[in-house]
Amino acid sequence: MKSPLETTNNKPKASLRSQVMRAVDSFAFPLRTSHYVELVNPLWSTHKMQARVVKVWDETRDARTITLRPGLNWRTHRAGQHVRVGVPVGGKHYTRTYTISSEPERDDETFTITVKAISDGKISPHIVRNIKVGDYLPIGLPQGDFFLPDAQPVLPLFITAGSGITPAISMIRSLIAKERLPNTVHIHYAPHELDVIFGKQLREMAATHERYQLHEVHTHSYGELKQTKGYFNDEQINALCPDWREREVYACGPPGLVAALEQHFEKAGRSRHLNIERFLADFAPVPDGAVGGLVKFARSEAEIEASHDMPLLRVAEEAGLNPPHGCRMGICHTCNTTLISGSVRDLRSGKLITGDGSTVQTCVCAAAGDCVLDQ
Ligand code: FES
Repeated sequence: MKSPLETTNNKPKASLRSQVMRAVDSFAFPLRTSHYVELVNPLWSTHKMQARVVKVWDETRDARTITLRPGLNWRTHRAGQHVRVGVPVGGKHYTRTYTISSEPERDDETFTITVKAISDGKISPHIVRNIKVGDYLPIGLPQGDFFLPDAQPVLPLFITAGSGITPAISMIRSLIAKERLPNTVHIHYAPHELDVIFGKQLREMAATHERYQLHEVHTHSYGELKQTKGYFNDEQINALCPDWREREVYACGPPGLVAALEQHFEKAGRSRHLNIERFLADFAPVPDGAVGGLVKFARSEAEIEASHDMPLLRVAEEAGLNPPHGCRMGICHTCNTTLISGSVRDLRSGKLITGDGSTVQTCVCAAAGDCVLDQ
């Protein structure tokens, strides 16, 4: 049974609840009622949003789907959007952004994220191996502009690789749930058949929905750790999707695939029809002669020598700090701080940022000489 506090659709009830909460807050000062309510059920908290892990499911040997039940103030996502998730590891609090893999039409008041463990990563392997049912994780609201337009594209072409499948599966599931699946082609790259995240469901969807055409491209020969075949090229797209010039393309994958797609669609004069969700920020080549420097974090009174190409967010983390961050790729601005002195380089454009008081996105900027940050 739902708690009355979980019923938020009814406006009069919500405003009555907030009036009651405000009145009770005056007795709870200096904390808020929400802080005490959180002790009973973290999902009832209103001063921070949390989600309870209600299911974990291994998709492949290194990818896991986590089903989360969000607390009060959650708003339903649009298929293709992502969410910030806080993850405590070794006594520190980290934040990462993951695409929501479930469709918004799901009616069990949960959503899913699907995380692939990055072999040399710290957070994703922890999520894949250690997060368990019953854990509570801080979350943000759904964000991002990688979603299907309300005016439905006539012919979508999804091109995805690895965990880049997550926004695509949310969109395809949503179209199916709404019974509005148009003629859809999906090209997906994975090392081997067993590495295809959602492989069984994708194949079932292809078998049961004749308007959904799936092409799996397996890119590794057995025993090889690096890609040896299946690279995206003109010949391949012509063979798998001959009418690609008539389609709206939604692509998500690693930088190599994204670069090849950008080149291909630019050459064909169809860049406008290529919608990309990136795994990582797109960094420009660092100019010759670029130097790093001594970075001082003024508030934390920490300083560390940094290279010319390491994002300042990582520099701060390596110095033992726990700076605010979200997407780690220049989208959300959670990592913004102020440059007190010196200069930094925006790694996406290669441009120098100088001048006291300039805003610096630490996840996409690196030291360009000695600098002091207000952090
Ligand atoms: S962490 Fe999102 S912009 Fe830097």
